[in-house]
Amino acid sequence: MKVWFDGALRETDAARVSVLDHGLTVGDGVFETVKAVDGRPFALTRHLERLTRSARGLGLPDPDLDEVRRACAAVLEADPVPLGRLRITYTGGYGPLGSERGDRGTTLVVAVGETTRRPDSTAVVTVPWTRNERGALTGLKTTSYAENVVALAHAHRHGASEALFGNTAGRLCEGTGSNVFVVLDGEIHTPPVASGCLAGITRALTIEWTGAKETDLPLEVLREAEEVFLTSTLRDVQAVHRVDDRELPAAPGPVTAKAMRIFQERSGDDLDP
Ligand SMILES: Cc1ncc(COP(=O)(O)O)c(C=O)c1O
Repeated sequence: MKVWFDGALRETDAARVSVLDHGLTVGDGVFETVKAVDGRPFALTRHLERLTRSARGLGLPDPDLDEVRRACAAVLEADPVPLGRLRITYTGGYGPLGSERGDRGTTLVVAVGETTRRPDSTAVVTVPWTRNERGALTGLKTTSYAENVVALAHAHRHGASEALFGNTAGRLCEGTGSNVFVVLDGEIHTPPVASGCLAGITRALTIEWTGAKETDLPLEVLREAEEVFLTSTLRDVQAVHRVDDRELPAAPGPVTAKAMRIFQERSGDDLDP
């Protein structure tokens, strides 16, 4: 496997980042996960826009998007897997041991790994921890993701593939790596970005393509919703068949099934919507 690092395509074993990289020591970095189908990235422009927004949110210099595009093309050309997880990581670079940032420039790593298509439905659990809708990192896709590591491990221990968070006000927010949608009276709703969720790219496309509404919802809506589904880069639209102890045996229900179909059609029509 080859990765892009330090301005060129390199063998993974030869690509060495400093042990003092601020991304490693304090999680001072941002990232994107992009779906790649047969070596072609999906919605790359939207992902690169979000990468820049996340970098600005951390006070990092804007990433060189020409280089990021060249890097994505190079790793995909070297390894055009049928379904790929293209990962762009951009950090504060070599730094001191504390939280202050160094001045030797940023680190960019781009890599692709093979993945498999997710099942059409899955189980989720709610977690006892909250998303902070008012934090310095809220809405940024940063490499400070250890809270998600802990919550996802909790989900796996409970036989689920995703953990859902409420925010500090007890409102529905998002998953560790996905956005959440519910169907109420036949209409699709998803929490607004003000809930503290990431502005997911799949979420935005799903809202555009299905007319889903952004609605502030209590976490308990998960107990009553007719249908629940997740969206993310690698899940696309995925039905939920269990929330905690509540079974939704009909998943995907009719509204979710239609959203899945629309997403598949529209995303097949345009690789960079
Ligand atoms: C915390 C979080 N929420 C939501 C998402 C879904 O966003 P996207 O559809 O852009 O993959 C992600 C992305 O992986 C995420 O990390």
